[in-house]
Amino acid sequence: ALPRDLEGLRVVVSAGGTREPLDPVRHLGNRSSGKQGYALARVAAQRGADVTLVAAHTEALPEPAGAEVVHVSTARQLGAAVEEAASAADVVVMAAAVADFRPADTADHKIKKTEHSPDPTIALVRNPDILAGLVEARRPGQVIVGFAAETGDEQGGVLDHARAKLKRKGCDLLVVNAVGEGKAFEMEENTGWLLGADGTEQRIPLGAKSLLAATVWDAVTELVRRRAHR
Ligand code: PMT
Repeated sequence: ALPRDLEGLRVVVSAGGTREPLDPVRHLGNRSSGKQGYALARVAAQRGADVTLVAAHTEALPEPAGAEVVHVSTARQLGAAVEEAASAADVVVMAAAVADFRPADTADHKIKKTEHSPDPTIALVRNPDILAGLVEARRPGQVIVGFAAETGDEQGGVLDHARAKLKRKGCDLLVVNAVGEGKAFEMEENTGWLLGADGTEQRIPLGAKSLLAATVWDAVTELVRRRAHR
């Protein structure tokens, strides 16, 4: 049995990939399956936390026992649901792959191809940075965990990018996933690094997504405990 070391903590986890509609039948999306976020929610519930899971397009996954699940689609919907749950949470973990941009316009009819029409161009506008908003609105003592999906390898500067992202985003912990063909997205296993705002760095070996989840919750409990003793 797992330790009940998250008992009494309210946690919010986001999972999956947002979809940004172009017209009633098309969208811009990404390859996140939600498996990593679901593993985080499942492990947290098993360890006694009160869990709200905000899920974007995770239809293929069974709901984790004991978690309250809120289903959303777009980045803006995900942001609204996470913010609402975060206002009463001790911990927020942003494992969702959130679209940085959305189409500037959503057509209310299917965009048609006609013989002489010019090839269309999609104009994009920025979505709000949810993680940055959470950090700005952080409750006293609240622990905020971000994820970073980076292409490339250690030599290719993944960690340097991630260290800069951790500073820029202002979260307490950042899980760094190297992504690319056959890595992280949609897989059953994951690997990466866990970076702490206090400068700690931990390599997470390749293993089930529940193992990465356990490593994250171990680090979170440590931070919560340190804050309680301050
Ligand atoms: O779902 P799986 O198939 O299991 O795959 C897991 C995963 C690879 C998707 C996951 O582990 C992961 O890395 N998720 C974060 C992917 C991501 O969007 O990374 P990013 O570097 O683009 O964003 C950095 C952080 O900011 C993330 O915590 C993200 O949730 C957050 N963000 C991003 C954009 C935005 N507009 N608002 C945000 O809050």
